[in-house]
Amino acid sequence: MRRAKISIIGAGNVGATTAHWCAADELGDIVLLDVPATESMPAGKSLDLFQASPIVGFDAKVTGTTDWADTAGSDVVVVTAGIARKPGMSRDDLLSTNAKILGDVSAHIRDTSPDAIVIVVSNPLDAMVQRAFQVTGFPAHRVFGQAGILDTARYRAFLAMELGVSVEDISAMLLGGHGDTMVPIPSCTSVGGVPITQLIDAARLEEIVQRTRTGGAEIVGLLKTGSAYYAPAAATAQMVEAVVRDKKRLVPCAAYCDSEYGVGGYYVGVPVILGTAGVERIIELDLQAEERAGLDKSIAAVKELVGAMNGLTGWQG
Ligand code: NAI
Ligand code: 2OP
Repeated sequence: MRRAKISIIGAGNVGATTAHWCAADELGDIVLLDVPATESMPAGKSLDLFQASPIVGFDAKVTGTTDWADTAGSDVVVVTAGIARKPGMSRDDLLSTNAKILGDVSAHIRDTSPDAIVIVVSNPLDAMVQRAFQVTGFPAHRVFGQAGILDTARYRAFLAMELGVSVEDISAMLLGGHGDTMVPIPSCTSVGGVPITQLIDAARLEEIVQRTRTGGAEIVGLLKTGSAYYAPAAATAQMVEAVVRDKKRLVPCAAYCDSEYGVGGYYVGVPVILGTAGVERIIELDLQAEERAGLDKSIAAVKELVGAMNGLTGWQG
């Protein structure tokens, strides 16, 4: 059986670490691409990663390039190209630079891998995935974004720290945009099946949710030179795995919602079923009034961001 071809665009922290997780899990052959100005850097990182294969014991080709022709016919393309946050910057500060980069990258993907599934990671995520959808012209189920798995993982990690239990027993769901307006869904959060509301009082739970909302900024503040990459890359690799192994995972992703949740044609974080076709189904939850209000606020923030991006890029669609 042919191995999947996975191209990762942007060989920086998130891109290279995603390549690492994907290779170690033998998800497919990996092509790591960066801009020509980086010269042989993608080739260097790829050779280094491939040389780990006899030790770790994985069979996967890992190659680095600055030539889009090498990505041709990819099954999955992961987009991590762009600039990352520095202390004091919000995800939205990245908008104009990364919208241009996403426009360029998406045109290349459209021309070189017309049948690919595209997973966008670059920030501000909800706008960048919309940009990839606009420029590739691919069906919406083949273009989606990584944010919810990371945000939910942070929430699960903080809950495990609070309760002194295994992260494996914590199941949770957060909806909305990848930003300060993400919406926790307590009715979908449990520890070994016990509803979270029976284990933590409402005030403390809200503090943990707030730490989750600013979880990315917390890492930026600690690192001082860039933003998080281990957990974002692990989240992205989980999405690649769901696609190449047709896992039918139920996970939160930035998916194109039109009638769903009454969004009207934008990408927001919602629960989806991920498999070989990409987003195979969007799950519509029955939300409580407070959760619905939170989601509406988050959708409004995404629409404002996309409006600003469309103004910058002259997009009329
Ligand atoms: P980084 O700076 O380490 O790497 C970005 C790479 O993209 C650089 O090597 C750069 O040369 C490359 N690049 C720029 N323009 C390109 C183009 N046109 N084609 C190909 N490559 C290009 O940044 P890092 O930490 O890897 O973050 C990447 C992006 O992912 C940022 O926008 C960051 O904000 C975002 N991010 C999103 C997360 C999420 O949950 N959605 C989580 C973490 C980061
Ligand atoms: C994060 O949440 C920067 O979006 C990135 O870590």
